[in-house]
Amino acid sequence: MNMSDLKHKTLEEIEKIASLQDWEELRVAVLGKKGSLTLLMKELGTKSPEERRLMGAELNVVKEAVTEALDLRKHQLEEADLDARLARETLDVSLPPRPFFKGKIHPLSSVMDQAIHIFGQMGFKVAEGPDIEEDFYNFTALNFPPEHPARQEHDTFYLPPGADQQPLVLRTHTSPVQIRTMLQEKPPIRIIAPGRTYRSDYDATHTPMFHQIEGLVVDTHTHMGHLKGCLEEFCRLFFEDPALKLRFRPGYFPFTEPSAEVDIWWKDSSWLEILGCGMVHPNVLRNCDIDPDVYQGFAFGMGIERIAMLKYGIEDLRLFFDSDIRWLNYYGFDPEARE
Ligand code: DAH
Repeated sequence: MNMSDLKHKTLEEIEKIASLQDWEELRVAVLGKKGSLTLLMKELGTKSPEERRLMGAELNVVKEAVTEALDLRKHQLEEADLDARLARETLDVSLPPRPFFKGKIHPLSSVMDQAIHIFGQMGFKVAEGPDIEEDFYNFTALNFPPEHPARQEHDTFYLPPGADQQPLVLRTHTSPVQIRTMLQEKPPIRIIAPGRTYRSDYDATHTPMFHQIEGLVVDTHTHMGHLKGCLEEFCRLFFEDPALKLRFRPGYFPFTEPSAEVDIWWKDSSWLEILGCGMVHPNVLRNCDIDPDVYQGFAFGMGIERIAMLKYGIEDLRLFFDSDIRWLNYYGFDPEARE
Protein backbone atom coordinates (compact mmCIF):
# COMPACT_ATOMS: atom_id res chain seq x y z
CA MET A 1 0.00 0.00 0.00
CA ASN A 2 1.43 3.37 -0.86
CA MET A 3 1.76 6.13 1.61
CA SER A 4 -1.21 8.11 0.39
CA ASP A 5 -3.53 5.07 0.49
CA LEU A 6 -2.42 4.24 4.00
CA LYS A 7 -3.18 7.78 5.08
CA HIS A 8 -6.64 7.79 3.55
CA LYS A 9 -7.54 4.39 4.86
CA THR A 10 -6.41 5.26 8.38
CA LEU A 11 -8.21 8.60 8.40
CA GLU A 12 -11.38 6.88 7.21
CA GLU A 13 -11.12 4.34 10.01
CA ILE A 14 -10.62 7.09 12.55
CA GLU A 15 -13.73 8.80 11.24
CA LYS A 16 -15.74 5.60 11.86
CA ILE A 17 -14.61 4.94 15.45
CA ALA A 18 -17.70 4.67 17.66
CA SER A 19 -16.34 4.28 21.18
CA LEU A 20 -13.37 5.30 23.30
CA GLN A 21 -12.41 1.66 23.51
CA ASP A 22 -12.31 1.29 19.72
CA TRP A 23 -10.36 4.50 19.60
CA GLU A 24 -7.66 3.08 21.84
CA GLU A 25 -7.51 -0.11 19.79
CA LEU A 26 -7.01 1.78 16.57
CA ARG A 27 -4.38 4.05 18.10
CA VAL A 28 -2.38 0.99 19.15
CA ALA A 29 -2.88 -0.64 15.71
CA VAL A 30 -1.38 2.42 13.98
CA LEU A 31 0.96 4.13 16.43
CA GLY A 32 1.62 1.41 19.01
CA LYS A 33 4.91 -0.52 19.21
CA LYS A 34 3.82 -2.83 16.42
CA GLY A 35 1.49 -0.35 14.75
CA SER A 36 1.42 -0.01 10.96
CA LEU A 37 3.07 3.43 10.94
CA THR A 38 5.62 2.49 13.55
CA LEU A 39 6.70 -0.51 11.47
CA LEU A 40 7.12 1.69 8.40
CA MET A 41 9.25 4.06 10.44
CA LYS A 42 11.43 1.14 11.50
CA GLU A 43 11.83 0.07 7.90
CA LEU A 44 13.46 3.42 7.09
CA GLY A 45 16.65 2.13 8.64
CA THR A 46 17.04 -0.45 5.90
CA LYS A 47 16.75 2.11 3.06
CA SER A 48 19.41 4.09 1.24
CA PRO A 49 19.99 7.65 2.50
CA GLU A 50 18.19 9.06 -0.53
CA GLU A 51 15.06 6.93 -0.04
CA ARG A 52 15.16 7.48 3.68
CA ARG A 53 14.96 11.24 3.27
CA LEU A 54 12.03 11.07 0.84
CA MET A 55 10.09 8.39 2.71
CA GLY A 56 10.88 9.93 6.06
CA ALA A 57 9.41 13.27 5.09
CA GLU A 58 6.27 11.63 3.71
CA LEU A 59 5.86 9.41 6.74
CA ASN A 60 6.09 12.40 9.06
CA VAL A 61 3.30 14.15 7.20
CA VAL A 62 1.11 11.04 7.46
CA LYS A 63 1.88 10.59 11.15
CA GLU A 64 1.02 14.18 11.90
CA ALA A 65 -2.29 13.97 10.04
CA VAL A 66 -3.18 10.70 11.79
CA THR A 67 -2.27 12.01 15.24
CA GLU A 68 -4.32 15.13 14.70
CA ALA A 69 -7.33 13.13 13.48
CA LEU A 70 -7.06 10.80 16.45
CA ASP A 71 -6.99 13.72 18.92
CA LEU A 72 -10.00 15.31 17.30
CA ARG A 73 -11.96 12.04 17.28
CA LYS A 74 -11.14 11.42 20.93
CA HIS A 75 -12.40 14.84 21.87
CA GLN A 76 -15.64 14.24 19.94
CA LEU A 77 -16.15 10.86 21.57
CA GLU A 78 -15.63 12.30 25.05
CA GLU A 79 -18.13 15.07 24.38
CA ALA A 80 -20.69 12.56 23.13
CA ASP A 81 -20.10 10.44 26.19
CA LEU A 82 -20.71 13.38 28.51
CA ASP A 83 -23.87 14.40 26.63
CA ALA A 84 -25.19 10.85 26.94
CA ARG A 85 -24.50 10.79 30.67
CA LEU A 86 -26.13 14.15 31.22
CA ALA A 87 -29.21 12.97 29.36
CA ARG A 88 -29.29 9.72 31.30
CA GLU A 89 -28.70 11.16 34.77
CA THR A 90 -31.34 13.84 34.86
CA LEU A 91 -32.65 14.83 38.25
CA ASP A 92 -36.33 15.29 38.87
CA VAL A 93 -36.35 18.14 41.37
CA SER A 94 -40.12 17.93 41.68
CA LEU A 95 -39.98 14.53 43.41
CA PRO A 96 -40.92 14.68 47.11
CA PRO A 97 -37.93 14.19 49.46
CA ARG A 98 -37.40 10.82 51.13
CA PRO A 99 -38.61 10.76 54.74
CA PHE A 100 -35.76 11.65 57.09
CA PHE A 101 -35.49 9.60 60.28
CA LYS A 102 -33.23 10.98 62.95
CA GLY A 103 -32.20 8.49 65.62
CA LYS A 104 -32.38 9.23 69.35
CA ILE A 105 -29.91 8.49 72.12
CA HIS A 106 -31.40 5.92 74.50
CA PRO A 107 -32.11 7.50 77.91
CA LEU A 108 -29.84 4.94 79.62
CA SER A 109 -26.93 5.83 77.33
CA SER A 110 -27.55 9.48 78.04
CA VAL A 111 -27.72 9.00 81.82
CA MET A 112 -24.56 6.90 81.69
CA ASP A 113 -22.81 9.68 79.74
CA GLN A 114 -24.06 12.32 82.17
CA ALA A 115 -22.74 10.35 85.15
CA ILE A 116 -19.36 9.73 83.48
CA HIS A 117 -19.16 13.42 82.66
CA ILE A 118 -19.88 14.57 86.23
CA PHE A 119 -17.48 12.09 87.84
CA GLY A 120 -14.95 12.82 85.09
CA GLN A 121 -14.91 16.45 86.19
CA MET A 122 -14.18 15.31 89.75
CA GLY A 123 -11.12 13.45 88.49
CA PHE A 124 -12.47 9.90 88.18
CA LYS A 125 -11.40 7.82 85.21
CA VAL A 126 -13.45 5.02 83.66
CA ALA A 127 -12.49 1.39 84.33
CA GLU A 128 -14.07 -1.72 82.82
CA GLY A 129 -14.39 -5.42 83.51
CA PRO A 130 -16.01 -8.41 81.79
CA ASP A 131 -19.75 -9.23 81.99
CA ILE A 132 -18.87 -12.91 82.40
CA GLU A 133 -16.98 -12.78 85.66
CA GLU A 134 -15.17 -15.22 87.88
CA ASP A 135 -16.91 -16.02 91.16
CA PHE A 136 -13.66 -14.90 92.81
CA TYR A 137 -13.95 -11.27 91.62
CA ASN A 138 -17.74 -11.08 91.93
CA PHE A 139 -17.92 -12.50 95.47
CA THR A 140 -14.88 -14.03 97.17
CA ALA A 141 -12.42 -11.16 96.83
CA LEU A 142 -15.23 -8.76 97.84
CA ASN A 143 -15.34 -10.49 101.21
CA PHE A 144 -18.44 -12.60 100.64
CA PRO A 145 -17.65 -15.70 102.71
CA PRO A 146 -18.46 -19.02 101.01
CA GLU A 147 -22.11 -20.03 101.53
CA HIS A 148 -22.86 -16.55 102.89
CA PRO A 149 -26.57 -15.67 102.45
CA ALA A 150 -25.62 -12.44 100.62
CA ARG A 151 -24.50 -14.61 97.71
CA GLN A 152 -28.02 -15.99 97.41
CA GLU A 153 -29.58 -12.54 97.66
CA HIS A 154 -27.96 -11.65 94.36
CA ASP A 155 -30.09 -14.11 92.31
CA THR A 156 -26.96 -15.04 90.42
CA PHE A 157 -26.85 -16.52 86.93
CA TYR A 158 -24.26 -19.27 87.17
CA LEU A 159 -22.34 -20.44 84.09
CA PRO A 160 -20.41 -23.66 83.48
CA PRO A 161 -16.82 -23.24 84.73
CA GLY A 162 -14.22 -21.89 82.31
CA ALA A 163 -11.17 -23.68 80.86
CA ASP A 164 -9.25 -23.27 84.14
CA GLN A 165 -12.20 -24.71 86.11
CA GLN A 166 -12.89 -21.32 87.77
CA PRO A 167 -16.60 -20.96 88.65
CA LEU A 168 -18.13 -18.33 86.34
CA VAL A 169 -21.15 -16.03 86.81
CA LEU A 170 -22.77 -13.17 84.95
CA ARG A 171 -21.59 -10.36 87.19
CA THR A 172 -24.32 -9.40 89.65
CA HIS A 173 -22.86 -5.93 90.25
CA THR A 174 -20.05 -3.70 88.98
CA SER A 175 -18.11 -4.12 92.26
CA PRO A 176 -15.75 -6.80 90.80
CA VAL A 177 -14.20 -3.98 88.76
CA GLN A 178 -12.96 -2.58 92.11
CA ILE A 179 -10.97 -5.77 92.66
CA ARG A 180 -9.64 -5.90 89.11
CA THR A 181 -8.51 -2.28 89.39
CA MET A 182 -6.86 -2.66 92.80
CA LEU A 183 -4.98 -5.74 91.63
CA GLN A 184 -3.69 -3.87 88.59
CA GLU A 185 -3.00 -0.39 89.92
CA LYS A 186 -1.57 0.93 93.12
CA PRO A 187 -3.14 3.85 95.03
CA PRO A 188 -4.01 6.63 94.63
CA ILE A 189 -7.00 5.17 92.79
CA ARG A 190 -10.02 7.08 91.63
CA ILE A 191 -12.21 5.18 89.18
CA ILE A 192 -15.79 4.73 88.12
CA ALA A 193 -16.97 1.55 86.43
CA PRO A 194 -20.19 1.85 84.43
CA GLY A 195 -21.62 -1.28 82.86
CA ARG A 196 -24.13 -4.09 82.52
CA THR A 197 -25.06 -6.31 85.44
CA TYR A 198 -27.31 -9.38 85.68
CA ARG A 199 -29.68 -10.94 88.19
CA SER A 200 -32.41 -13.51 87.73
CA ASP A 201 -35.38 -11.30 88.52
CA TYR A 202 -38.20 -9.73 86.54
CA ASP A 203 -40.93 -7.25 87.54
CA ALA A 204 -41.70 -3.52 87.28
CA THR A 205 -38.50 -2.66 89.15
CA HIS A 206 -36.22 -5.56 88.12
CA THR A 207 -34.97 -6.81 84.77
CA PRO A 208 -32.48 -9.68 84.33
CA MET A 209 -30.03 -7.23 82.74
CA PHE A 210 -29.57 -3.74 84.15
CA HIS A 211 -26.81 -1.19 84.58
CA GLN A 212 -24.77 0.11 87.46
CA ILE A 213 -22.06 2.63 87.98
CA GLU A 214 -19.45 1.82 90.57
CA GLY A 215 -17.06 4.26 92.20
CA LEU A 216 -13.83 3.59 94.06
CA VAL A 217 -11.34 5.93 95.72
CA VAL A 218 -8.29 4.63 97.58
CA ASP A 219 -5.68 6.92 99.09
CA THR A 220 -3.78 7.56 102.31
CA HIS A 221 -6.22 9.93 104.00
CA THR A 222 -9.59 8.96 102.56
CA HIS A 223 -12.49 9.17 105.00
CA MET A 224 -16.27 9.13 105.15
CA GLY A 225 -16.45 12.91 104.74
CA HIS A 226 -14.95 12.53 101.26
CA LEU A 227 -17.54 9.89 100.43
CA LYS A 228 -20.42 12.10 101.56
CA GLY A 229 -19.07 15.17 99.77
CA CYS A 230 -18.51 13.27 96.56
CA LEU A 231 -22.00 11.72 96.45
CA GLU A 232 -23.70 14.94 97.48
CA GLU A 233 -21.92 16.79 94.69
CA PHE A 234 -22.84 14.10 92.19
CA CYS A 235 -26.53 13.94 93.15
CA ARG A 236 -26.97 17.71 93.12
CA LEU A 237 -25.38 18.01 89.68
CA PHE A 238 -27.13 14.98 88.24
CA PHE A 239 -30.61 15.91 89.49
CA GLU A 240 -29.91 19.58 88.71
CA ASP A 241 -30.93 20.69 92.19
CA PRO A 242 -28.21 22.52 94.16
CA ALA A 243 -30.23 22.16 97.39
CA LEU A 244 -31.04 18.44 97.03
CA LYS A 245 -31.07 16.75 100.45
CA LEU A 246 -29.30 13.43 101.02
CA ARG A 247 -29.64 10.99 103.91
CA PHE A 248 -27.01 8.38 104.79
CA ARG A 249 -28.59 5.37 106.51
CA PRO A 250 -26.55 2.55 108.02
CA GLY A 251 -26.51 -0.47 105.74
CA TYR A 252 -24.70 -3.72 105.19
CA PHE A 253 -22.44 -4.85 102.35
CA PRO A 254 -19.71 -7.46 102.89
CA PHE A 255 -17.14 -5.29 101.06
CA THR A 256 -17.61 -2.06 103.03
CA GLU A 257 -17.38 -1.20 106.71
CA PRO A 258 -19.13 0.95 107.70
CA SER A 259 -21.74 0.67 104.95
CA ALA A 260 -24.52 3.11 104.15
CA GLU A 261 -27.53 3.42 101.90
CA VAL A 262 -28.21 6.83 100.48
CA ASP A 263 -31.67 8.33 100.09
CA ILE A 264 -32.62 11.58 98.41
CA TRP A 265 -35.49 13.81 99.51
CA TRP A 266 -37.71 13.63 96.45
CA LYS A 267 -40.29 16.19 95.32
CA ASP A 268 -40.84 17.48 98.88
CA SER A 269 -42.60 14.24 99.72
CA SER A 270 -40.48 11.18 100.50
CA TRP A 271 -37.03 9.69 100.95
CA LEU A 272 -36.03 7.47 98.02
CA GLU A 273 -33.11 5.09 98.15
CA ILE A 274 -30.72 5.55 95.27
CA LEU A 275 -27.41 3.88 96.07
CA GLY A 276 -25.19 1.86 98.38
CA CYS A 277 -21.78 2.92 99.63
CA GLY A 278 -19.22 2.66 102.38
CA MET A 279 -15.59 2.58 103.40
CA VAL A 280 -13.72 -0.24 101.66
CA HIS A 281 -13.47 -3.21 104.05
CA PRO A 282 -9.87 -3.86 105.22
CA ASN A 283 -10.24 -7.49 104.05
CA VAL A 284 -10.96 -6.28 100.52
CA LEU A 285 -7.86 -4.08 100.53
CA ARG A 286 -5.83 -7.02 101.85
CA ASN A 287 -7.22 -9.32 99.15
CA CYS A 288 -5.73 -6.84 96.67
CA ASP A 289 -2.34 -6.54 98.37
CA ILE A 290 -3.06 -3.05 99.66
CA ASP A 291 -2.10 -2.38 103.28
CA PRO A 292 -5.22 -1.21 105.18
CA ASP A 293 -3.04 0.41 107.83
CA VAL A 294 -1.67 2.78 105.18
CA TYR A 295 -4.58 3.15 102.78
CA GLN A 296 -8.31 3.68 103.17
CA GLY A 297 -10.91 3.83 100.49
CA PHE A 298 -14.54 4.57 99.86
CA ALA A 299 -16.80 2.95 97.31
CA PHE A 300 -20.30 3.30 96.00
CA GLY A 301 -22.58 1.62 93.51
CA MET A 302 -25.83 2.82 92.01
CA GLY A 303 -28.36 1.62 89.50
CA ILE A 304 -28.40 3.63 86.28
CA GLU A 305 -32.03 2.69 85.55
CA ARG A 306 -33.05 3.83 89.03
CA ILE A 307 -31.61 7.35 88.70
CA ALA A 308 -32.85 7.60 85.09
CA MET A 309 -36.41 6.66 86.16
CA LEU A 310 -36.36 9.30 88.88
CA LYS A 311 -34.88 12.06 86.76
CA TYR A 312 -37.18 11.53 83.78
CA GLY A 313 -40.32 10.23 85.49
CA ILE A 314 -40.25 6.77 83.89
CA GLU A 315 -42.60 4.47 85.80
CA ASP A 316 -41.73 0.97 84.66
CA LEU A 317 -38.17 -0.31 84.34
CA ARG A 318 -39.12 -2.77 81.59
CA LEU A 319 -39.91 0.10 79.20
CA PHE A 320 -36.17 0.73 78.80
CA PHE A 321 -35.77 -2.59 77.05
CA ASP A 322 -39.00 -2.91 75.05
CA SER A 323 -37.49 -1.12 72.02
CA ASP A 324 -40.82 0.64 71.40
CA ILE A 325 -39.92 3.26 68.82
CA ARG A 326 -42.62 5.69 70.03
CA TRP A 327 -41.31 5.47 73.58
CA LEU A 328 -37.74 5.92 72.40
CA ASN A 329 -38.73 8.94 70.35
CA TYR A 330 -40.37 10.49 73.37
CA TYR A 331 -37.78 9.68 76.06
CA GLY A 332 -34.68 9.55 73.82
CA PHE A 333 -32.25 12.41 73.42
CA ASP A 334 -31.43 14.40 70.32
CA PRO A 335 -27.88 13.34 69.33
CA GLU A 336 -27.11 16.84 68.06
CA ALA A 337 -28.03 18.42 71.39
CA ARG A 338 -25.33 16.46 73.21
CA GLU A 339 -22.53 18.31 74.95
N1 DAH B 1 -22.65 -3.77 94.71
C1 DAH B 1 -23.77 -3.28 95.49
C2 DAH B 1 -25.06 -3.82 94.89
O1 DAH B 1 -25.09 -4.15 93.75
C3 DAH B 1 -23.81 -1.78 95.50
C4 DAH B 1 -22.68 -1.22 96.26
C5 DAH B 1 -22.83 -0.95 97.62
C6 DAH B 1 -21.47 -0.93 95.68
C7 DAH B 1 -21.81 -0.43 98.37
C8 DAH B 1 -20.42 -0.42 96.42
C9 DAH B 1 -20.61 -0.17 97.76
O2 DAH B 1 -19.23 -0.14 95.89
O3 DAH B 1 -19.58 0.35 98.49
O4 DAH B 1 -26.03 -3.90 95.57
